Amino acid sequence: MVTGGCGFIGTCFIRYLLLESDFSGHIINVDKLTYAGNPENLADIQKSIPGRYTFIKADICDPDAMNRVFESHEIDTICNFAAESHVDRSIVAPDAFIKTNIEGTFNLLETARRNSDRLVLFHHVSTDEVYGSLGPEGLFTEQTPYHPNSPYAASKAASDHLVRAYGKTYALPVTISNCSNNYGPYQFPEKLIPLMILNAFENKPLPVYGDGGNIRDWLFVNDHCRAVWEIMKAGRRGQTYNVGGRCEMRNLDTVNMICRFVDDLVPREDHKPRNDLITFVKDRPGHDLRYAIDCSKLEKELGWTPTESFETGLKKTVQWYLDHPQWVQRVKSGEYREWIKRHYT
Ligand code: NAD
Ligand code: DAU
Repeated sequence: MVTGGCGFIGTCFIRYLLLESDFSGHIINVDKLTYAGNPENLADIQKSIPGRYTFIKADICDPDAMNRVFESHEIDTICNFAAESHVDRSIVAPDAFIKTNIEGTFNLLETARRNSDRLVLFHHVSTDEVYGSLGPEGLFTEQTPYHPNSPYAASKAASDHLVRAYGKTYALPVTISNCSNNYGPYQFPEKLIPLMILNAFENKPLPVYGDGGNIRDWLFVNDHCRAVWEIMKAGRRGQTYNVGGRCEMRNLDTVNMICRFVDDLVPREDHKPRNDLITFVKDRPGHDLRYAIDCSKLEKELGWTPTESFETGLKKTVQWYLDHPQWVQRVKSGEYREWIKRHYT
């Protein structure tokens, strides 16, 4: 059972498992289809390998629905991606973050506990934001104390604690991964990289928070998906693994790089560089300065290592958005929501 499989990373994870990995089982994708969930991302999978993929529209906070899924599909493994994931939204309206990220994870754990005789693994996908913010030096390790700064990060921290506690108290087989910033295909265009790519295509302003000096550690989404699958297969139960790209970038440098790639692929009519669209805007409240992950535990124990460089990964990402105008148009116009209404209500 994959929760949140219609979101950005969940979509890529399901595609990776079914199309690229050694996984041989059946996936039940449980997703509530919030604004961030787009079942069209997996419509081709549903058609081409229906025998190994089932979609169920359901809320992880709903105990009866989760029980039904568990019983009718004999779930033995959970990979929990479902979450409210956007920091800015958590600052404006934290309620849904508390509900889904904390209560939803709690409800899934309770469902797992009731079915523990069959449970092989509960893997929880989390974030490096639980560790708070770094100064100019140092890296987050699995021993770094939790110090979340946004309602999103605090809700993910709470969910991590619950997962770990269920592992200890009820001997539930659990693993947790804490990953840095992902980028790649299918990312909803509210996050920095797709927002900048799509605005640059349309010659719209590129809003950079503060002075653009905040640093993020970027990881191509397929590298993350491979890490999650390696941890699920061979990670030590009860353990946490950090996942990161060893790729620290200042936001301003990231946006400048996007501008360069977009200029190369689709030059403006007047041939002006896109970086003159960069607009410095009011900073995010409580904006974490720097994230950087030490992923040596995962590298040493499971032989995982990030394979995509930021340069190649970002080029592929810009190209993907350019090659999928219909996806972009349907997401930006909200037409994908109409499709959901027609099919699922
Ligand atoms: P996303 O917002 O793109 O997708 C979230 C998915 O969860 C959507 O399909 C949504 O419909 C679904 N969902 C939300 N509430 C639900 C509920 N109550 N019941 C069932 N489904 C629900 O998020 P993402 O960027 O793909 O992130 C996936 C996971 O990875 C999250 O747990 C996030 O915290 C974590 N993470 C993300 C990043 C990143 O850079 N995006 C990095 C590290 C960790
Ligand atoms: O570190 C992992 C986290 O990365 C995940 O847990 C979150 O789910 C994911 O959203 C992401 O959080 P960030 O807040 O780092 O991502 P976001 O894309 O929102 O912002 C990246 C950086 O860019 C951050 O420093 C804020 C800045 N930013 C963002 C936007 C949307 C801008 O300067 N301008 C913008 O318009």
